[in-house]
Amino acid sequence: MSDDAFDTLMTSVDPPLVVVTTEVDGERAGCLVGFHSQSSIDSGHYSVWLSKANHTYRAALRATHLAVHFLTDRDLALAERFGTQCGAETDKFAGLAIDSDEHGSPLLRECPNRLVLERTAVLDDGGDHVCLTTRVLSAHTGGTFTPLRVSDASHLDPGHPAEARAIHP
Ligand SMILES: Cc1cc2nc3c(=O)[nH]c(=O)nc-3n(C[C@H](O)[C@H](O)[C@H](O)COP(=O)(O)O)c2cc1C
Repeated sequence: MSDDAFDTLMTSVDPPLVVVTTEVDGERAGCLVGFHSQSSIDSGHYSVWLSKANHTYRAALRATHLAVHFLTDRDLALAERFGTQCGAETDKFAGLAIDSDEHGSPLLRECPNRLVLERTAVLDDGGDHVCLTTRVLSAHTGGTFTPLRVSDASHLDPGHPAEARAIHP
């Protein structure tokens, strides 16, 4: 496979960025995610791919619910907060207005475009990210918006490089 061609294709697609949050045993976790997609129409499903290196991945494996917050072109600071720090060392939620949904997932009040999800399956295909499939329980929007995209955040250094996963195949 040509790595250059793959990179060119993915750069051209330029996915929108979201912040995935979750809560388990009273502990909040969340990270910036570019790998995510609707994965069923009726019923509505959504899938996210979390890096095995991330604190959020470890929390999400134990959690039953997740929230996905769609970032707008005005949310670069949130992308930096959730995409460049490790939640095991820093409270990324400190100083933010946070609500909790009925399942405990932290909801970022400044991000009204979001989904509340129930985790249904976990697929580890041997890559450096793991797919969490979910059922959409509810959706909320503040109206149409211009998404923040990977190209807007390309200068950010992820809190963990994907190679930092604990176990290598
Ligand atoms: C542009 C960009 C896109 C990213 N996409 C993903 C992704 O799709 N999945 C993921 O798990 N991490 C992704 N990350 C990395 C995490 O957001 C980052 O390592 C974060 O600091 C992990 O925090 P945590 O250890 O508290 O979970 C991305 C980071 C950046 C800068």
